[in-house]
Amino acid sequence: MRRLWHLLGVAFGLASAVGCFLVGAYFQHTHATRQLQQLVQQDVYAYYISPKIFAAYARADPQFGFFNIPKGAPNHVQRIMKYGFPGLDDVRLYSDFVLSYDRRNRVAHWVCEHLQLANLQGARGVGRASATYRADLSVPSNFRSTLADYKHSGFDRGHLAAAGNHRGQQVHCNETFLLTNIAPQIGQGFNSGAWNKLEIYVRELTQSFGSVYVCTGPLFKPRAQGNRKWSVEYQMIGENMVAVPTHFFKVIMVESRLPLGKPYMEAYVLPNAPIPDQSTLRDFLCDIREIEHFAGLHFFQGIRRSAIFGSNYPSESKVFREFA
Ligand SMILES: *[C@@H]1O[C@H](CO)[C@@H](O)[C@H](O)[C@H]1NC(C)=O
Repeated sequence: MRRLWHLLGVAFGLASAVGCFLVGAYFQHTHATRQLQQLVQQDVYAYYISPKIFAAYARADPQFGFFNIPKGAPNHVQRIMKYGFPGLDDVRLYSDFVLSYDRRNRVAHWVCEHLQLANLQGARGVGRASATYRADLSVPSNFRSTLADYKHSGFDRGHLAAAGNHRGQQVHCNETFLLTNIAPQIGQGFNSGAWNKLEIYVRELTQSFGSVYVCTGPLFKPRAQGNRKWSVEYQMIGENMVAVPTHFFKVIMVESRLPLGKPYMEAYVLPNAPIPDQSTLRDFLCDIREIEHFAGLHFFQGIRRSAIFGSNYPSESKVFREFA
């Protein structure tokens, strides 16, 4: 008899625990739904990130909001990072772009920008003429790249977030010259050639469509050594050994002007090498998943992939076949 009471007690305890859990889950869910509805009213593009929002709520991490954006992060950061962080290694916030810094290679992993017409048209007198390259003192000195590293290296100080994309305020433009946003690039035929063309193309997209997200970074691409072995080879410059990337990528996402319109994404990978003038940008189109594979990053995770990835891309892009 005693035993029976005991069993009943345990059963009742279990039932009430499950009940409380269900009630809690129900309230959490309705709360999430309400928040989501509010968000979609404020911003139609939030529709695309709804699955992630639910995932974020399910995790219920008190310190982080959507996509691990710290709650209370400045508004411009929430705007730039609306579709998620490609990675979370040493994330650094600037006034008009966000980057993740690779302390070992002393170049960024990625730099994210959100371009609107105001960024490009800019204010009078704002521009690169009054900006200068400088070391980023916010990086600990033992991990920092310096002007001396680039001097006489034979490489250009190449922008990841382009200076011409940040003409709204001189502070914005100045920050693109911090060496955290700079990587060693071949000058002739790359930085002043194809890479420049790609930057201009991104600005043209912004002129036409009004809202463009772009994520830029270096790649260190392995070469086949035969027998399923691979190796990565790249130069390093200066006392601080700044790594010279083998390739650079840009992942571009254009928001639709239509409410609930699908965003458009494409990506480019260019070898850090002189590129013949007659080659066109289309030659360097690349599957975003390929970049993710080599960079260890994940782009625009807030957007449902199936909506974007068609059979448009060859499985291996021309650049990876011909410039390996
Ligand atoms: C931009 O940089 C230049 C040169 O380093 C400096 O003289 C100027 O004061 C800076 N402007 C702003 C707004 O930070």
